[in-house]
Amino acid sequence: MCGIVGYIGGKNAVDIVLNGLKKLEYRGYDSSGIAVVKDEQLQIRRSIGKLKNLKENIEKNPLESNISIGHTRWATHGKPSEENAHPHTDPTKSIVIVHNGIIENYAELKLRLEKEGKEFKSETDTEVIAHLIKKHYKDNLLNAVQETLKEIKGSYALGIICKDEPNKIVCARQNASLIVGAGKGENFLASDIPALLSYTRNMIFLENGDIAELTANEITITDIENNVKKREIKNIKWDCVQAEKEGYKHFMLKEIYEQPRTIEDTFRGRIYPDEGRVYIEEIKLSKEDIKSISNIYVVACGTAYYSGLVAKFLFENFAKIPTEVDIASEFRYREPILNDKVLIVIVSQSGETADTLAALRLAKSKDCTILAVCNVVGSSISREADHVVYTHCGPEIGVASTKAFTGQLTALYMVSLDLACKKESLSKEEIKKYLKELWEIPVKIGDFFKQSETVYEVAKRFANKRDFLYLGRHVNYPIALEGALKLKEISYIHAEGYAAGEMKHGPIALIDDDMPIIAIAVKSKVYEKVISNIGEAKARGATVIIIASESDKTASNNGDNVIYVPDCDEFVSPILSVIPLQLLAYYVAVVLGCDVDQPRNLAKSVTVE
Ligand code: G6P
Repeated sequence: MCGIVGYIGGKNAVDIVLNGLKKLEYRGYDSSGIAVVKDEQLQIRRSIGKLKNLKENIEKNPLESNISIGHTRWATHGKPSEENAHPHTDPTKSIVIVHNGIIENYAELKLRLEKEGKEFKSETDTEVIAHLIKKHYKDNLLNAVQETLKEIKGSYALGIICKDEPNKIVCARQNASLIVGAGKGENFLASDIPALLSYTRNMIFLENGDIAELTANEITITDIENNVKKREIKNIKWDCVQAEKEGYKHFMLKEIYEQPRTIEDTFRGRIYPDEGRVYIEEIKLSKEDIKSISNIYVVACGTAYYSGLVAKFLFENFAKIPTEVDIASEFRYREPILNDKVLIVIVSQSGETADTLAALRLAKSKDCTILAVCNVVGSSISREADHVVYTHCGPEIGVASTKAFTGQLTALYMVSLDLACKKESLSKEEIKKYLKELWEIPVKIGDFFKQSETVYEVAKRFANKRDFLYLGRHVNYPIALEGALKLKEISYIHAEGYAAGEMKHGPIALIDDDMPIIAIAVKSKVYEKVISNIGEAKARGATVIIIASESDKTASNNGDNVIYVPDCDEFVSPILSVIPLQLLAYYVAVVLGCDVDQPRNLAKSVTVE
């Protein structure tokens, strides 16, 4: 979850690297640093906390060069501190490196180096790599890196500079994202696309085992044995504007408001409601393949997991395929029954979540078919899955996931209807109806935004409460979970999501006038059931905020506050009913003055187990 940026070319590399790191702030970090070569010496600046501290450090101790690597660190080995911040060097200050990932055998390597008399300055696993490269260095940095990588086990994205070869950056990738940006007379390196978008759209996604050598004019990719590798340069369509706030106060708010477009982008060209047709080019499964699927496991983490819980209803009701949903970190250790009749649906915004990726690999080793729903082109998950349905949401910068979630719901809805078409488990008319419902969602979300002020008023009224209970049933039970997660993540208020019918088996004991209840009570086959659950809560003094369908004339009798959403079919309703919950969490966090886009302790992409 750390960020890497590197530059070599004719411009001031320091500005470019700092700007790139700024674009990666969303990933979460606790310290940052930068290194350059100047007058045949390495110069390094590191600071704890936000990037502005590093910038102030550089203003006091100016740096300029046309080669640089920089890093934002999220602590794994060793506390957040200046000593542990990257870049790290070898003791002679000849080699400097930045690293994302974890070196699994670093303890034994460190011991060996210490026995040889080497001294370490940090608690990090990374520092051993700098020592080893120096040890292997004769007169060629690339060769020294190749030799070093033969000794280390684990995951890494590495950027490396040597003071004796100030005209090149070497970088390497193993199970951690690393991208090379190709410019004219300049080349770039980054862990993530947004860091480079202001400079180039031509990017090479390094693969596991790749080692790239960048000079201002050349990019050469080899492997550990010095075999040359050919990698395609991809033109990335995402523009800088997409990755910036566009005048919104926070990325999260911008991303909430983007949802009509991102949902439409996700289904555009893939659904044809009038013909009752779904066409997802990336799914290469034949009718026979689909008919032979015995069951589905949806596997994911965090918000993506909640989209999976909704998908269970869709796969079972539309495609009539038994479906289980697993948290990836549980799935990988519980020995699920897997074979070639099982379809694994992996859901991940980043495509880099360590547990999700490990679950994918486990399932692959058992011959399962892997279908990934992913937002990041070229990510590890997207490259390792058999079929990838991309959510076309663009980069999601806010740590709390919003548009990626509705993109996932949209994609999973389409996938389930695609399976239903091929299995003929729904009639043509039913498929047309469900597709039309999805088609109308972007406009309905746009209509809902006219009521944002109501949500803001509710937020102001309840922001001082310390506990919230979110209730939902059926497809909207996962939305209750997601609503509670959003509030926890960005406002640090305790919130629990619960199946409304289960409330009487425990949480009802918590109810008093100090714990507001948010109940999703939109029109559906369980509507009356939810209303009677709300009655149980109100009878015990609860204050209830209801998310209700516009046509529900009795909603104000049931809730103390009502937030209306446009009417829609129950199976598509999660995409709509989550929007007020995202906004509510956002406004509560704003009222409380929280750091909405970078909540404490959270990272956008969790690339460690
Ligand atoms: C982190 C993020 C969440 C995200 C989860 C899974 O915890 O903060 O927003 O839902 O990882 O990430 P993925 O990229 O796999 O969807």
